[in-house]
Amino acid sequence: MNETNKRLSTGISGLDEVLKGGLIKKRTYLVRGGPGTGKTTLGFHYLIEGAEKNEKSIFITLTESKDKMREDAQNRGFDLNNIEFVDLSPSSKFIEENKNYDVFPSNEVDQKPLIDEIIKRIKNNKPNRVFFDGLTQLRYLSSDSFQFRKQILSLVQFAVEQNITLLISSEASINSPDDDLQFMCDGVINLENDENRRVINISKFRGSGFLSGRHSMKIKKDGIKVYPKLRLQKRKKDYKTETISAGVPEIDELLHGGLERGTTTVLSGASGVGKTTLGLQFMKEASGRGERSVIYAFEEGVETILNRSEAINIPIKEMVKRNTLAIEKIDPLEYTPDEFTHKVKREVEENNIKIVMIDSVSGYKLAFERLADGNNEMVRNLHALTEYLTGMGVTVLLINEIQNITGDFKVTELGISYMADNIIFLRYLEMNSELRKAIGVLKKRLSDFENKMRQFKITKYGIKVGSPLTQLRGILTGNPEFIDSSGNGENFHGNR
Ligand SMILES: Nc1ncnc2c1ncn2[C@@H]1O[C@H](COP(=O)(O)OP(=O)(O)OP(=O)(O)O)[C@@H](O)[C@H]1O
Ligand SMILES: [Mg+2]
Repeated sequence: MNETNKRLSTGISGLDEVLKGGLIKKRTYLVRGGPGTGKTTLGFHYLIEGAEKNEKSIFITLTESKDKMREDAQNRGFDLNNIEFVDLSPSSKFIEENKNYDVFPSNEVDQKPLIDEIIKRIKNNKPNRVFFDGLTQLRYLSSDSFQFRKQILSLVQFAVEQNITLLISSEASINSPDDDLQFMCDGVINLENDENRRVINISKFRGSGFLSGRHSMKIKKDGIKVYPKLRLQKRKKDYKTETISAGVPEIDELLHGGLERGTTTVLSGASGVGKTTLGLQFMKEASGRGERSVIYAFEEGVETILNRSEAINIPIKEMVKRNTLAIEKIDPLEYTPDEFTHKVKREVEENNIKIVMIDSVSGYKLAFERLADGNNEMVRNLHALTEYLTGMGVTVLLINEIQNITGDFKVTELGISYMADNIIFLRYLEMNSELRKAIGVLKKRLSDFENKMRQFKITKYGIKVGSPLTQLRGILTGNPEFIDSSGNGENFHGNR
């Protein structure tokens, strides 16, 4: 039997991924979380998945009644028709008839213990999957915590003997910890909901590895979605090393040939200097080769990008129509960073994307930092994403907006330069009392590059780049100097 045959899907694909294939059969798992964190919903997914595979699935409820449960599920589009219910909620017939029931066997013959009833029902049904919702209720009903543990342990033992994969939900709180249950179970799935950010994490999984960390989770109308955190992976470079051209000979000269596939390039510059347009220029060329690119726009609207590009001879609408370009406006309120990563990953894997542009890094950061666990989390997330993408042979363009129009040039404002294989910068220069633009390369990991700036213009015919500005010195300092023929330096412009 191979590894996957031993695994049971949870019915939530992202969670299966976190569990490296799913739950291990015939074991017991604890689903922990506070009120409304999604324990019951997770149970629905688990049982419905079983029912769809013709595995017998049983839902045991000690809290909400079967009818209420079914009604809620129905409203959300969960089909519980093939799921057996064992209703032991306070309003159920069993509880009605056994008003003085004890949870556990007692010496008094007329009291029918609840745990016996559960075992009897399970025996009759011979299920593969059981979800036990609200087991922790038993704790309140039992007088003695030693008895509670003993009986739960016997239930777990019984489940193993019956070849059942058992999920138990537990609502732990500071006043009523569930360490004992965590200890007894083979795996522990923790659900959290802090300030509307849902998180899932595995704290224990006997017999298997799992993706550690706090993965983002959402509960949508159709149920739970889990977005496994992308981890920093070593690149697996098995694609052809080749360069891609900018389609503007002078830019290719600056780059000594172009950008290598599967590298990350930071396009840095002040607002409005032409970073997005420069990125689009690479995409225009890629489109000519029939390759597909995606722009994730965090700042500008899609319309703005569309309209502007048309005015400067980048046929972006045509590219979108030919399916060689997609522009996606990312609404920060809609996505968590892990969900965004998941979206990019899916796009790349399904549509053979060759260039991905994040416009811009500060937009990305702003969008997600309210959800970040720590200060560096967003940089880590972005780094993991770029490593994944470049590992897939995708060329990544990160748009980096810098604050000062002229003056000191800082490429590292956001602490992202370490993830850049290449850094291209655009800046404003004052020449002959006119504000002009210039382009230069600051870093290139895989080849040499031209270390002179060139004039950069965006015209209605497209991007125009001049010849190297040889008379310019100190372009990266605040005050580039113009070297006249007599060799005297003349200050070129001041800070603004
Ligand atoms: N149609 C829906 N669309 C989006 N979210 C929903 C929908 N219905 C329910 N939810 C969300 O699901 C959550 C409840 O999930 P669930 O009942 O599985 O949690 P629970 O952990 O079992 O809660 P409890 O502690 O009350 O038993 C709620 O937070 C609610 O916001
Ligand atoms: Mg519940």
